[in-house]
Amino acid sequence: PLVTSKEMFKKAYEGGYAIGAFNVNNMEIIQGIVEAAKEERAPLILQVSAGARKYAKPVYLKKLVEAAAEDSGLPIVLHLDHGEDFEICKACIDDGFTSVMIDGSRLPFEENIALTKRVVEYAHERGVVVEGELGRLAGVEDNVKVNEREATFTDPDQAVEFVERTGVDSLAIAIGTSHGAYKFKGEPYLDFERLKKITEKLPGFPLVLHGASSVLPEYVEMCNKYGGDIPGAKGVPEEMLRKAATMGICKINIDTDLRLAVTAVLRKYLAENPAEFDPRKYLGEARNAVKKVVQHKIRNVLGCSGKI
Ligand code: G3H
Ligand code: 13P
Ligand code: ZN
Ligand code: NA
Repeated sequence: PLVTSKEMFKKAYEGGYAIGAFNVNNMEIIQGIVEAAKEERAPLILQVSAGARKYAKPVYLKKLVEAAAEDSGLPIVLHLDHGEDFEICKACIDDGFTSVMIDGSRLPFEENIALTKRVVEYAHERGVVVEGELGRLAGVEDNVKVNEREATFTDPDQAVEFVERTGVDSLAIAIGTSHGAYKFKGEPYLDFERLKKITEKLPGFPLVLHGASSVLPEYVEMCNKYGGDIPGAKGVPEEMLRKAATMGICKINIDTDLRLAVTAVLRKYLAENPAEFDPRKYLGEARNAVKKVVQHKIRNVLGCSGKI
């Protein structure tokens, strides 16, 4: 069945682990993720971005996720990733999503609060939970200086005010991660002091980490070996994610690692099997790779194996 993340987050918080929130946009990715979660008996969040909805069409993704829940028997959260306005959140809530993110992080504080509050009111009346975001996820390309980058991190006192005034169910914070495959120029750095302050001021409240792919070297190298060109890619070290999961982070967002795995095995398979032209062959390889990555995350990074 499709469920909300309420109970999942409560248990994850108390147990010092995190739930994986994996971005989906086609059948093979959904099946790979769900097969892994089923074997691991792991709680699961499948999330859909505006771009994914546009690519696959809303009805296809909705029905594919419903099929995954029905076929696997797993409790699955269907979540909107980075909803940018009230309208897309409303559309997803009306469409049967059990969770939405309203991302007002680009807005001034008061406007972010007003927008988030409006979504929370609409969602809660319909039994849907809401993730907000405060602070900005700057990538290495967005900011040159370290002190400039830190100015975009989440302020702990503002986080408390934001949560109290909006009524959100979870909060995405900025502590040094960023989206994509180029997260750090030099040594990876996350502001754990800041995370600790936020957790102390919001005890028991579920926090979310976006931009949490590790950019697994195995797949970057495979891409590059078979004709790809992804130099200097760098992600969040797995030990840092493990640590964050014990400090109030209950949801860890992963998209880039799946994209890289799919692309790497496709490149390899097609390079090694030039006569093959049955999509089931190479998309099947991609599905297996997604499953392998997700299984690894569940066991070794998120710590949520056996938690259902
Ligand atoms: O946060 C971004 C997610 O990785 C989704 O990316 O907007 O390209 O679908 P997308
Ligand atoms: P990655 O790009 O690190 O996978 O982050 C995904 C994400 O935060 C989706 O919202
Ligand atoms: Zn994100
Ligand atoms: Na946690």
